[in-house]
Amino acid sequence: MEHTGALILAAGKGTRMRSERPKVLHTLLGEPMVWYVYQALDGLVPEAAVWTVVGHGAQQMRAAFPGRTPGFVVQERQLGTGHALQTAWPALGEAGVGTLLVVNGDTPLVPRAALAALLEAFQARRPALAFLTVDLPDPGAFGRVVRGPGGDVAAIVEAKDYDPTTHGPESGEINSGIYVLDMAAVGPLLSRLDNSNASGEFYITDLVDLAARAGLPVLGVRAGADPQLLGVNSPVELARAEELLRARIVDGLLEAGVMIHQPGTTVVGPRAVLEPGCEISGPCEILGATRVAAGASVGAQTWIRDSDIGPGALVRPFCHIEGAQVGPDCQIGPFARLRPLAVTEQGARVGNFVEMKKARLGPGAKAGHLSYLGDAQVGAGANIGAGTITCNYDGKNKHQTVIGQDAFIGSNTALVAPVRIGDRALVGAGSVITKDVGDDMLALERSRQRELPRRK
Ligand code: UD1
Ligand code: CA
Repeated sequence: MEHTGALILAAGKGTRMRSERPKVLHTLLGEPMVWYVYQALDGLVPEAAVWTVVGHGAQQMRAAFPGRTPGFVVQERQLGTGHALQTAWPALGEAGVGTLLVVNGDTPLVPRAALAALLEAFQARRPALAFLTVDLPDPGAFGRVVRGPGGDVAAIVEAKDYDPTTHGPESGEINSGIYVLDMAAVGPLLSRLDNSNASGEFYITDLVDLAARAGLPVLGVRAGADPQLLGVNSPVELARAEELLRARIVDGLLEAGVMIHQPGTTVVGPRAVLEPGCEISGPCEILGATRVAAGASVGAQTWIRDSDIGPGALVRPFCHIEGAQVGPDCQIGPFARLRPLAVTEQGARVGNFVEMKKARLGPGAKAGHLSYLGDAQVGAGANIGAGTITCNYDGKNKHQTVIGQDAFIGSNTALVAPVRIGDRALVGAGSVITKDVGDDMLALERSRQRELPRRK
């Protein structure tokens, strides 16, 4: 059965980014460019019918999108966008793709609605090829759309190849790099692409000229002046696109009832969920799959990624929180660092200069100052004194520290794991604890203070 597929062109190096990282892995608000393209396709084309041409940094692409690799087609040498299409063609044919949506992987802001509109226009008119165009008075490095006297598209001419004496004055209409192809109609043209142009590359855009010359209908669908359809090629363009998206997300949250102070300095990623009724103070960054529940508040200068901030929780300024779970009504910071798998349960408190990793603070437990809790379980109501350190690493392996409920750990205590402190136990300040302490016991490990007359 013939069906609709999608092809993302993402093999290029992105020379203008001046970076070794494949361009489409450069991020906006913490997510790679091409992630946004996948999102836009979601719901339009089933994931199994989405192919991605990878090449430069293919290994990094595989690592970033392991679930997508069945759809990866490798273009060993990046000889141009037309060559990318040629490379993917056999796989698309074998899969029975009849209508192909092609999207440049460096167009992260493309709205799903724009792709849907192009597909719709294609279905209604059934041309050989349709593509979206943008009105851009200063067309920069984009491909120029050339139309004939009747308004029909005649060609797309790349910036480097554009010559007003042959192509006429600039029209201000550019190619977005988003196309729909009728595979049967375009197939015979594909082998006729050549690289006799200023870049020495095989251009997908030459299909337009080839189709028009062959008398096949080509449709240039005008999308107006939408900046969301512009490809990103350089740090400047990336920063502009990121700012556009940031402002859009923050405005949407404000409209939905999230209180954001200093919205102009607040960064919220596209996967973050901020519930109406939470309160955020900029500047801050909330990225990845983070949720901030209603009634929670996040202070300024805080960075959060892939974490859950529970209802009524208070995250004070200057916290760094990643892969952590902050329970309801907890108080965190200022200057707290919660690393992956840090969990604070209902009403627990984490104060300044406390670091937690793979550690759980039970309900109402407190670690107020200057501590490291790694690979640790702390029972409900326990109090961790200032300067308490779990010595979890012996140089080879990590070990657990378990602290019972309502235990009290005096200041400047080293807990050498594996070790267990019983419920309601008390550890005297300055102790180095290497053996388990029983329930309700007092443990003290420190040298006796001596007092001698001062030598004169
Ligand atoms: C391309 C279009 C241009 C259009 C612009 C819109 C061509 C020749 N030109 O130009 O008309 O205005 O997009 O943004 O297509 N890629 C590969 N393999 C390659 C080369 C590129 O997969 O061999 C991928 C890139 O990773 C990128 C996309 O194709 O995601 C577009 O390539 P790029 O070099 O950025 O094309 P532009 O010069 O921007
Ligand atoms: Ca581009």
